[in-house]
Amino acid sequence: MSPQTVNVAIVGGGLMGREIAAALQRWPALIDHPVRPRLTAVCDVNPAAMTWFDQIDTVTTKVTDYRDLLGDPTIDVLYVAVRHDLHEQIYCDVIRSGKDLLAEKPFGIDPAAAAAIMAAIGEHPESFVRCSSEMPFFPGAQWAADYVRSGALGPIIEARNAFLHSSDQDVRKGINWKRQIATCGEAGVLNDLGMHTWHLPLRLGWAPDRVYGVLQNIVTTRPGPDGTPAPCDTWDNATLHCWSRHDGREFPLTTQTKRIDPGQKNTWAFEAIGIDGGVRFSTKNPKAVEVFGVRDIPGIGREQIWHQLDVGSQSVWPTVTGGIFETGFSDSILQMWAAFLAERAGALGDQFGTVRPEEAALTHEIFRAAMTSQRDGAAVAVRPAVPAP
Ligand SMILES: NC(=O)c1ccc[n+]([C@@H]2O[C@H](COP(=O)([O-])OP(=O)(O)OC[C@H]3O[C@@H](n4cnc5c(N)ncnc54)[C@H](O)[C@@H]3O)[C@@H](O)[C@H]2O)c1
Repeated sequence: MSPQTVNVAIVGGGLMGREIAAALQRWPALIDHPVRPRLTAVCDVNPAAMTWFDQIDTVTTKVTDYRDLLGDPTIDVLYVAVRHDLHEQIYCDVIRSGKDLLAEKPFGIDPAAAAAIMAAIGEHPESFVRCSSEMPFFPGAQWAADYVRSGALGPIIEARNAFLHSSDQDVRKGINWKRQIATCGEAGVLNDLGMHTWHLPLRLGWAPDRVYGVLQNIVTTRPGPDGTPAPCDTWDNATLHCWSRHDGREFPLTTQTKRIDPGQKNTWAFEAIGIDGGVRFSTKNPKAVEVFGVRDIPGIGREQIWHQLDVGSQSVWPTVTGGIFETGFSDSILQMWAAFLAERAGALGDQFGTVRPEEAALTHEIFRAAMTSQRDGAAVAVRPAVPAP
Protein backbone atom coordinates (compact mmCIF):
# COMPACT_ATOMS: atom_id res chain seq x y z
CA MET A 1 0.00 0.00 0.00
CA SER A 2 1.31 3.48 -0.79
CA PRO A 3 1.81 5.67 2.28
CA GLN A 4 -0.90 8.10 3.30
CA THR A 5 0.10 11.75 2.73
CA VAL A 6 -0.15 13.95 5.83
CA ASN A 7 0.20 17.70 5.40
CA VAL A 8 2.10 19.35 8.23
CA ALA A 9 2.25 23.00 9.30
CA ILE A 10 4.87 24.45 11.63
CA VAL A 11 3.98 27.30 13.98
CA GLY A 12 7.17 28.98 15.22
CA GLY A 13 10.01 28.95 12.72
CA GLY A 14 12.81 29.23 15.30
CA LEU A 15 15.33 26.67 16.56
CA MET A 16 12.94 23.74 16.80
CA GLY A 17 10.72 24.67 13.85
CA ARG A 18 13.75 24.40 11.56
CA GLU A 19 14.99 21.20 13.18
CA ILE A 20 11.63 19.53 12.53
CA ALA A 21 11.46 20.86 8.95
CA ALA A 22 14.90 19.37 8.29
CA ALA A 23 13.92 16.02 9.87
CA LEU A 24 10.85 15.71 7.66
CA GLN A 25 13.14 16.11 4.62
CA ARG A 26 14.88 12.88 5.69
CA TRP A 27 11.67 10.86 5.74
CA PRO A 28 12.73 8.45 2.94
CA ALA A 29 15.27 7.02 5.40
CA LEU A 30 12.34 5.25 7.14
CA ILE A 31 11.43 1.79 5.83
CA ASP A 32 7.77 1.02 5.04
CA HIS A 33 6.31 3.84 7.16
CA PRO A 34 2.54 4.08 6.65
CA VAL A 35 2.61 7.86 6.36
CA ARG A 36 4.42 10.37 4.13
CA PRO A 37 4.45 13.85 5.73
CA ARG A 38 4.67 16.98 3.56
CA LEU A 39 5.56 20.29 5.17
CA THR A 40 3.18 22.66 3.39
CA ALA A 41 2.79 25.65 5.72
CA VAL A 42 4.79 27.76 8.16
CA CYS A 43 3.71 30.49 10.57
CA ASP A 44 5.86 32.95 12.44
CA VAL A 45 5.04 36.42 13.76
CA ASN A 46 8.44 37.43 12.42
CA PRO A 47 8.28 37.18 8.59
CA ALA A 48 12.09 37.10 8.38
CA ALA A 49 12.13 33.83 10.34
CA MET A 50 10.19 32.18 7.50
CA THR A 51 12.69 33.01 4.74
CA TRP A 52 14.73 29.92 5.69
CA PHE A 53 11.74 27.73 4.73
CA ASP A 54 11.87 28.99 1.10
CA GLN A 55 14.38 26.22 0.37
CA ILE A 56 11.69 23.57 1.06
CA ASP A 57 9.66 23.47 -2.13
CA THR A 58 6.58 21.82 -0.59
CA VAL A 59 5.99 24.92 1.58
CA THR A 60 3.26 26.85 -0.23
CA THR A 61 1.71 28.78 2.66
CA LYS A 62 3.42 31.34 4.90
CA VAL A 63 1.37 33.29 7.42
CA THR A 64 2.06 35.50 10.43
CA ASP A 65 -1.16 34.58 12.29
CA TYR A 66 -1.55 30.88 13.15
CA ARG A 67 -5.35 31.22 13.12
CA ASP A 68 -5.13 31.52 9.33
CA LEU A 69 -4.00 27.87 9.27
CA LEU A 70 -6.79 26.48 11.43
CA GLY A 71 -9.52 26.72 8.79
CA ASP A 72 -7.29 25.43 5.98
CA PRO A 73 -8.74 22.03 5.03
CA THR A 74 -5.47 20.91 3.42
CA ILE A 75 -3.56 20.93 6.74
CA ASP A 76 -3.74 17.78 8.87
CA VAL A 77 -1.14 18.22 11.64
CA LEU A 78 0.35 21.27 13.34
CA TYR A 79 3.67 21.26 15.15
CA VAL A 80 3.83 24.25 17.50
CA ALA A 81 7.18 25.47 18.84
CA VAL A 82 6.75 28.83 20.53
CA ARG A 83 7.37 30.51 23.91
CA HIS A 84 5.83 28.75 26.87
CA ASP A 85 3.43 31.60 27.71
CA LEU A 86 1.85 31.12 24.24
CA HIS A 87 1.28 27.36 24.53
CA GLU A 88 -2.13 27.38 26.19
CA GLN A 89 -3.86 29.68 23.71
CA ILE A 90 -2.33 28.23 20.55
CA TYR A 91 -2.59 24.57 21.58
CA CYS A 92 -6.24 25.01 22.66
CA ASP A 93 -7.10 26.79 19.40
CA VAL A 94 -5.46 24.03 17.34
CA ILE A 95 -7.27 21.32 19.31
CA ARG A 96 -10.63 23.12 19.00
CA SER A 97 -10.09 23.32 15.23
CA GLY A 98 -10.07 19.49 15.21
CA LYS A 99 -6.59 19.30 13.68
CA ASP A 100 -3.88 17.11 15.16
CA LEU A 101 -1.07 18.55 17.26
CA LEU A 102 2.48 17.73 18.16
CA ALA A 103 2.98 20.20 20.99
CA GLU A 104 6.30 21.31 22.38
CA LYS A 105 7.20 20.89 26.00
CA PRO A 106 6.45 21.90 28.68
CA PHE A 107 2.82 21.66 27.39
CA GLY A 108 1.67 24.97 28.88
CA ILE A 109 3.55 27.34 31.13
CA ASP A 110 2.16 25.94 34.41
CA PRO A 111 -0.31 23.38 35.83
CA ALA A 112 -3.33 25.60 35.11
CA ALA A 113 -2.34 25.98 31.46
CA ALA A 114 -1.78 22.22 31.15
CA ALA A 115 -5.22 21.60 32.70
CA ALA A 116 -6.82 23.97 30.18
CA ILE A 117 -5.14 22.09 27.32
CA MET A 118 -6.35 18.79 28.79
CA ALA A 119 -9.89 20.19 28.99
CA ALA A 120 -9.74 21.17 25.30
CA ILE A 121 -8.59 17.64 24.44
CA GLY A 122 -11.47 16.23 26.49
CA GLU A 123 -13.92 18.33 24.46
CA HIS A 124 -12.28 17.40 21.12
CA PRO A 125 -11.25 13.75 21.22
CA GLU A 126 -11.00 13.82 17.42
CA SER A 127 -7.78 15.84 17.79
CA PHE A 128 -4.76 13.52 18.19
CA VAL A 129 -2.33 15.25 20.56
CA ARG A 130 1.15 14.31 21.71
CA CYS A 131 4.09 16.23 23.18
CA SER A 132 7.65 16.41 21.92
CA SER A 133 10.52 14.60 23.68
CA GLU A 134 13.10 13.06 21.42
CA MET A 135 16.01 11.93 23.60
CA PRO A 136 14.49 8.54 24.56
CA PHE A 137 14.49 7.72 20.84
CA PHE A 138 18.28 7.33 20.89
CA PRO A 139 18.83 3.61 20.21
CA GLY A 140 20.78 3.27 23.47
CA ALA A 141 17.88 4.73 25.44
CA GLN A 142 15.55 2.23 23.76
CA TRP A 143 17.86 -0.62 24.74
CA ALA A 144 17.92 0.65 28.32
CA ALA A 145 14.11 0.76 28.37
CA ASP A 146 13.88 -2.75 26.90
CA TYR A 147 16.37 -4.01 29.48
CA VAL A 148 14.29 -2.57 32.34
CA ARG A 149 11.08 -4.00 30.88
CA SER A 150 12.69 -7.45 30.60
CA GLY A 151 12.73 -7.69 34.40
CA ALA A 152 16.51 -8.18 34.44
CA LEU A 153 17.00 -5.59 37.19
CA GLY A 154 15.16 -7.56 39.85
CA PRO A 155 14.17 -5.29 42.76
CA ILE A 156 15.40 -1.79 41.87
CA ILE A 157 17.96 -0.19 44.19
CA GLU A 158 17.86 3.22 42.49
CA ALA A 159 17.42 4.94 39.13
CA ARG A 160 18.42 8.29 37.63
CA ASN A 161 17.52 10.28 34.51
CA ALA A 162 19.43 13.50 33.78
CA PHE A 163 19.47 16.21 31.13
CA LEU A 164 22.50 18.46 31.42
CA HIS A 165 23.59 21.66 29.68
CA SER A 166 26.32 24.21 30.38
CA SER A 167 25.57 26.99 27.90
CA ASP A 168 24.46 29.24 30.77
CA GLN A 169 27.88 28.97 32.42
CA ASP A 170 28.78 32.16 30.52
CA VAL A 171 27.32 34.93 32.71
CA ARG A 172 27.74 37.38 29.79
CA LYS A 173 25.15 35.47 27.75
CA GLY A 174 22.22 37.84 27.16
CA ILE A 175 18.80 37.48 28.70
CA ASN A 176 16.18 35.72 26.55
CA TRP A 177 12.63 34.42 26.92
CA LYS A 178 13.82 31.07 28.29
CA ARG A 179 15.41 32.78 31.30
CA GLN A 180 12.45 34.80 32.60
CA ILE A 181 9.44 33.63 34.60
CA ALA A 182 6.94 35.60 32.51
CA THR A 183 7.77 33.70 29.32
CA CYS A 184 9.45 30.45 30.50
CA GLY A 185 7.36 29.88 33.62
CA GLU A 186 8.05 29.70 37.35
CA ALA A 187 9.43 26.17 37.00
CA GLY A 188 12.35 27.54 34.96
CA VAL A 189 14.78 24.78 33.98
CA LEU A 190 12.14 22.17 34.81
CA ASN A 191 9.90 23.68 32.13
CA ASP A 192 12.83 23.76 29.71
CA LEU A 193 14.43 20.37 30.31
CA GLY A 194 12.15 18.45 32.67
CA MET A 195 10.07 16.63 30.03
CA HIS A 196 13.28 15.05 28.78
CA THR A 197 13.92 13.46 32.18
CA TRP A 198 10.35 12.29 32.80
CA HIS A 199 9.27 10.79 29.46
CA LEU A 200 11.04 7.47 30.00
CA PRO A 201 10.44 7.14 33.77
CA LEU A 202 6.71 7.82 33.32
CA ARG A 203 6.54 5.34 30.43
CA LEU A 204 8.17 2.76 32.69
CA GLY A 205 5.39 3.36 35.21
CA TRP A 206 7.57 5.29 37.65
CA ALA A 207 5.29 8.25 38.44
CA PRO A 208 6.60 9.47 41.81
CA ASP A 209 4.56 9.39 45.01
CA ARG A 210 6.56 12.23 46.57
CA VAL A 211 9.34 14.61 45.67
CA TYR A 212 12.13 16.47 47.47
CA GLY A 213 13.24 19.32 45.24
CA VAL A 214 16.68 20.97 45.29
CA LEU A 215 16.44 24.03 43.03
CA GLN A 216 19.05 26.72 42.38
CA ASN A 217 18.89 30.12 40.71
CA ILE A 218 22.62 30.57 40.17
CA VAL A 219 22.74 33.53 37.77
CA THR A 220 20.19 36.14 38.87
CA THR A 221 20.78 38.83 36.23
CA ARG A 222 21.92 38.76 32.61
CA PRO A 223 22.71 41.56 30.16
CA GLY A 224 19.56 42.99 28.59
CA PRO A 225 19.37 44.20 24.97
CA ASP A 226 21.11 47.49 25.90
CA GLY A 227 23.69 45.76 28.11
CA THR A 228 22.18 46.76 31.45
CA PRO A 229 21.46 43.84 33.82
CA ALA A 230 17.97 42.36 33.48
CA PRO A 231 16.42 39.95 36.00
CA CYS A 232 17.13 36.29 35.22
CA ASP A 233 14.60 34.94 37.69
CA THR A 234 14.18 31.29 36.67
CA TRP A 235 15.65 28.21 38.35
CA ASP A 236 18.89 27.20 36.61
CA ASN A 237 19.44 23.74 38.09
CA ALA A 238 16.98 21.32 39.65
CA THR A 239 17.55 17.92 41.24
CA LEU A 240 14.42 16.02 42.21
CA HIS A 241 14.80 13.20 44.72
CA CYS A 242 11.67 11.09 44.38
CA TRP A 243 10.10 7.89 45.66
CA SER A 244 8.66 5.81 42.86
CA ARG A 245 7.46 2.22 42.57
CA HIS A 246 8.49 -0.74 40.42
CA ASP A 247 6.64 -4.03 40.77
CA GLY A 248 5.01 -2.56 43.88
CA ARG A 249 8.32 -1.82 45.67
CA GLU A 250 9.47 1.71 46.44
CA PHE A 251 12.82 2.87 45.12
CA PRO A 252 14.59 6.26 44.94
CA LEU A 253 14.38 7.92 41.51
CA THR A 254 16.48 11.02 40.92
CA THR A 255 16.05 13.42 38.02
CA GLN A 256 18.56 16.16 37.27
CA THR A 257 17.95 19.09 34.93
CA LYS A 258 20.80 21.57 34.75
CA ARG A 259 21.52 24.58 32.59
CA ILE A 260 24.83 25.03 34.36
CA ASP A 261 26.74 21.77 34.56
CA PRO A 262 30.30 22.57 33.51
CA GLY A 263 31.39 20.59 30.47
CA GLN A 264 27.98 19.26 29.45
CA LYS A 265 26.44 20.31 26.13
CA ASN A 266 23.21 18.33 25.75
CA THR A 267 23.75 15.20 27.81
CA TRP A 268 20.78 12.89 28.44
CA ALA A 269 21.70 10.08 30.80
CA PHE A 270 19.71 7.19 32.25
CA GLU A 271 20.70 4.50 34.69
CA ALA A 272 18.78 1.93 36.66
CA ILE A 273 20.46 -0.34 39.17
CA GLY A 274 18.84 -3.43 40.65
CA ILE A 275 19.79 -6.36 42.80
CA ASP A 276 20.07 -8.66 39.78
CA GLY A 277 21.15 -6.31 37.01
CA GLY A 278 21.85 -2.75 35.95
CA VAL A 279 21.82 -0.60 32.83
CA ARG A 280 23.41 2.72 31.92
CA PHE A 281 23.23 4.92 28.84
CA SER A 282 24.38 8.48 28.15
CA THR A 283 24.30 10.49 24.92
CA LYS A 284 27.82 11.56 25.93
CA ASN A 285 28.88 8.25 24.39
CA PRO A 286 25.92 7.50 22.13
CA LYS A 287 27.08 4.09 20.88
CA ALA A 288 27.67 2.60 24.30
CA VAL A 289 25.17 0.85 26.55
CA GLU A 290 26.41 -0.73 29.76
CA VAL A 291 24.73 -3.64 31.47
CA PHE A 292 25.62 -5.18 34.81
CA GLY A 293 25.74 -8.80 35.80
CA VAL A 294 27.59 -11.45 37.76
CA ARG A 295 29.64 -13.80 35.54
CA ASP A 296 32.19 -16.58 35.73
CA ILE A 297 35.43 -15.01 34.51
CA PRO A 298 37.95 -17.61 33.27
CA GLY A 299 40.93 -17.92 35.62
CA ILE A 300 39.40 -15.51 38.16
CA GLY A 301 36.05 -16.79 39.33
CA ARG A 302 32.60 -15.36 39.80
CA GLU A 303 32.71 -11.56 39.69
CA GLN A 304 30.50 -8.51 39.32
CA ILE A 305 30.98 -6.95 35.90
CA TRP A 306 29.81 -4.00 33.78
CA HIS A 307 29.66 -5.02 30.12
CA GLN A 308 29.77 -2.42 27.37
CA LEU A 309 27.78 -3.01 24.17
CA ASP A 310 27.79 -1.02 20.90
CA VAL A 311 24.19 -0.21 20.04
CA GLY A 312 24.26 0.86 16.36
CA SER A 313 21.69 2.93 14.50
CA GLN A 314 18.27 1.30 14.83
CA SER A 315 15.59 2.75 17.12
CA VAL A 316 11.78 2.53 17.08
CA TRP A 317 11.17 2.63 13.33
CA PRO A 318 13.58 0.79 10.99
CA THR A 319 15.69 2.88 8.63
CA VAL A 320 17.89 2.32 5.60
CA THR A 321 20.87 3.39 7.71
CA GLY A 322 23.32 0.54 8.20
CA GLY A 323 22.74 -1.19 11.50
CA ILE A 324 26.33 -0.65 12.67
CA PHE A 325 26.37 3.11 11.97
CA GLU A 326 26.30 5.89 14.59
CA THR A 327 23.21 7.84 15.66
CA GLY A 328 22.62 11.46 16.75
CA PHE A 329 20.18 14.20 17.80
CA SER A 330 18.66 14.63 14.31
CA ASP A 331 18.03 10.87 14.10
CA SER A 332 16.18 10.99 17.41
CA ILE A 333 13.96 13.80 16.06
CA LEU A 334 13.18 11.72 12.95
CA GLN A 335 12.35 8.70 15.12
CA MET A 336 10.09 10.80 17.35
CA TRP A 337 8.16 11.96 14.29
CA ALA A 338 8.05 8.41 12.92
CA ALA A 339 6.52 7.28 16.22
CA PHE A 340 4.09 10.24 16.37
CA LEU A 341 2.74 9.76 12.85
CA ALA A 342 2.68 5.96 13.15
CA GLU A 343 0.68 6.17 16.39
CA ARG A 344 -1.66 8.72 14.76
CA ALA A 345 -2.17 6.20 11.92
CA GLY A 346 -2.80 3.34 14.39
CA ALA A 347 0.38 1.57 13.28
CA LEU A 348 2.76 1.96 16.25
CA GLY A 349 1.66 -1.19 18.05
CA ASP A 350 3.43 -1.56 21.39
CA GLN A 351 6.47 0.42 20.24
CA PHE A 352 7.70 3.41 22.27
CA GLY A 353 5.60 6.53 21.59
CA THR A 354 5.79 10.29 22.05
CA VAL A 355 4.67 11.84 25.34
CA ARG A 356 0.93 11.48 25.98
CA PRO A 357 -1.06 14.53 27.15
CA GLU A 358 -1.70 13.01 30.59
CA GLU A 359 2.04 12.35 31.02
CA ALA A 360 2.86 15.94 30.05
CA ALA A 361 0.23 17.27 32.46
CA LEU A 362 1.65 15.08 35.23
CA THR A 363 5.10 16.63 34.80
CA HIS A 364 3.58 19.96 35.82
CA GLU A 365 2.29 18.38 39.05
CA ILE A 366 5.75 16.94 39.70
CA PHE A 367 7.36 20.36 39.09
CA ARG A 368 4.81 22.04 41.37
CA ALA A 369 5.63 19.54 44.12
CA ALA A 370 9.36 20.16 43.59
CA MET A 371 8.94 23.94 43.91
CA THR A 372 6.79 23.56 47.02
CA SER A 373 9.42 21.23 48.45
CA GLN A 374 12.17 23.76 47.71
CA ARG A 375 10.17 26.47 49.47
CA ASP A 376 9.24 24.39 52.53
CA GLY A 377 12.35 22.22 52.85
CA ALA A 378 10.34 19.00 52.99
CA ALA A 379 9.25 16.19 50.66
CA VAL A 380 5.90 16.87 48.97
CA ALA A 381 3.29 14.41 47.68
CA VAL A 382 2.56 14.59 43.95
CA ARG A 383 -1.08 15.24 43.18
CA PRO A 384 -2.73 12.56 41.04
CA ALA A 385 -2.35 12.91 37.30
CA VAL A 386 -4.96 14.64 35.23
CA PRO A 387 -6.85 11.64 33.85
CA ALA A 388 -6.39 10.65 30.22
CA PRO A 389 -9.07 12.24 28.03
N1 LIG B 1 12.37 19.19 22.07
C1 LIG B 1 13.49 19.89 22.25
O1 LIG B 1 14.58 19.34 22.31
C2 LIG B 1 13.41 21.38 22.36
C3 LIG B 1 14.57 22.16 22.24
C4 LIG B 1 14.46 23.55 22.32
C5 LIG B 1 13.22 24.13 22.54
N2 LIG B 1 12.11 23.33 22.67
C6 LIG B 1 10.77 23.93 22.89
O2 LIG B 1 10.32 24.44 21.63
C7 LIG B 1 9.55 25.63 21.86
C8 LIG B 1 10.19 26.76 21.06
O3 LIG B 1 11.55 26.88 21.41
P1 LIG B 1 12.62 27.38 20.35
O4 LIG B 1 13.95 27.13 20.98
O5 LIG B 1 12.34 26.84 19.01
O6 LIG B 1 12.30 28.95 20.39
P2 LIG B 1 12.80 30.08 19.41
O7 LIG B 1 12.76 31.35 20.21
O8 LIG B 1 14.07 29.70 18.70
O9 LIG B 1 11.65 30.13 18.28
C9 LIG B 1 10.34 30.52 18.58
C10 LIG B 1 9.75 31.13 17.30
O10 LIG B 1 8.37 31.40 17.55
C11 LIG B 1 8.04 32.62 16.91
N3 LIG B 1 6.80 33.11 17.49
C12 LIG B 1 6.63 33.85 18.61
N4 LIG B 1 5.31 34.09 18.80
C13 LIG B 1 4.65 33.46 17.79
C14 LIG B 1 3.29 33.32 17.46
N5 LIG B 1 2.31 33.88 18.21
N6 LIG B 1 2.95 32.63 16.34
C15 LIG B 1 3.93 32.07 15.57
N7 LIG B 1 5.25 32.17 15.85
C16 LIG B 1 5.60 32.84 16.95
C17 LIG B 1 9.27 33.49 17.13
O11 LIG B 1 9.32 34.59 16.23
C18 LIG B 1 10.39 32.47 16.91
O12 LIG B 1 10.81 32.45 15.55
C19 LIG B 1 9.50 25.84 23.37
O13 LIG B 1 8.34 25.25 23.88
C20 LIG B 1 10.74 25.08 23.87
O14 LIG B 1 10.62 24.64 25.21
C21 LIG B 1 12.19 21.99 22.56
